Amino acid sequence: MFKTRLNDLLGVEYPIIGGAMAYLSTAELAAAVSNAGGFGLIAAVTLTREELKEQIHTCRSLTDKPFGVNIALIHRDPDKINQDIEVVIEEGVRFVETAALSPEPYVKKLKDSGITALHKCATVRHAKSAERAGVDAVTLVGFEAAGHTGLDDLPLSIMVPQAVDALKIPVIAAGGVGDGRAFVSALALGASGVQIGTRLMASRECPACHTFKEWIVQTQATDTVYVERSLNRAYRVRRNKAAEKVLELEETGVTMLDLLPYIGGDRLRKVLFEDDVEAGVVPCGPVAGMIDSVMSVREIIDRIVSQAKDIVERLSSN
Ligand SMILES: Cc1cc2nc3c(=O)[nH]c(=O)nc-3n(C[C@H](O)[C@H](O)[C@H](O)COP(=O)(O)O)c2cc1C
Repeated sequence: MFKTRLNDLLGVEYPIIGGAMAYLSTAELAAAVSNAGGFGLIAAVTLTREELKEQIHTCRSLTDKPFGVNIALIHRDPDKINQDIEVVIEEGVRFVETAALSPEPYVKKLKDSGITALHKCATVRHAKSAERAGVDAVTLVGFEAAGHTGLDDLPLSIMVPQAVDALKIPVIAAGGVGDGRAFVSALALGASGVQIGTRLMASRECPACHTFKEWIVQTQATDTVYVERSLNRAYRVRRNKAAEKVLELEETGVTMLDLLPYIGGDRLRKVLFEDDVEAGVVPCGPVAGMIDSVMSVREIIDRIVSQAKDIVERLSSN
């Protein structure tokens, strides 16, 4: 059960990808996802060349299962993207997920190096152009997701069927998946798999501090909010003092530079690792409202799969 084209493409037991989360998707979290039968991703965005290499080596020491590296194609330092690409090629990483801007300039280089290329984007339009650029699968980020969700404001129930009708390559649904019900519904919509982010923030292997994880468990589905709308971007985050401040500033007409003190990495690290959940803006999806406890990654994935099996059996016995 639950064998799709994605299982074959990634060489995994379950078509469930652990979404890359800046600062949190370390080798330990990625390996835990892969060891549980899913597909783990290391988030490269905040890592130096040496740190990324080290994370890849650590991940290899923790799992013999497939894993990949997520490379954000938007960065304040233009050299950073080429640096990440060089590292994954040098290190013989077999899977890369690019995200944000067009993967077109990088796909050939990745594929010529024997890398399976996935791309994450937030509109069907961009998914189509990623397919034209030659990627092997596309992750579609819905309005439900944490982080940057694009400006179409469409849920996966609309986008996934449109994407699977328009594309030949596998489509992965990202956003709002925390249990077996959402997993089955994504597959029913035609997705070849799912990507989960927010649910993994409240996992034992997530490196965030206890205070942060408990805050996520306490989060209601209505506690997320969009910032950066005034800058023509949509960034879904947990409502807190920093997010309120950003919204207040946005009413006065600001640039990204004005928002950086609240959105930047220093504040985010305080939220994630230093018990100060009000200090900075942190991506979070409304699926947080359905998280009831901090569990191991294996328990999370096992629960998703066993719920999904029950659903399929129930549906087919009627
Ligand atoms: C704290 C956090 C940080 C994230 N950082 C990244 C990132 O660096 N690169 C990226 O492509 N996506 C990032 N995402 C998005 C996730 O990879 C994933 O696509 C998204 O969380 C899926 O939606 P869900 O949270 O509803 O499961 C982040 C998400 C969270 C919650």
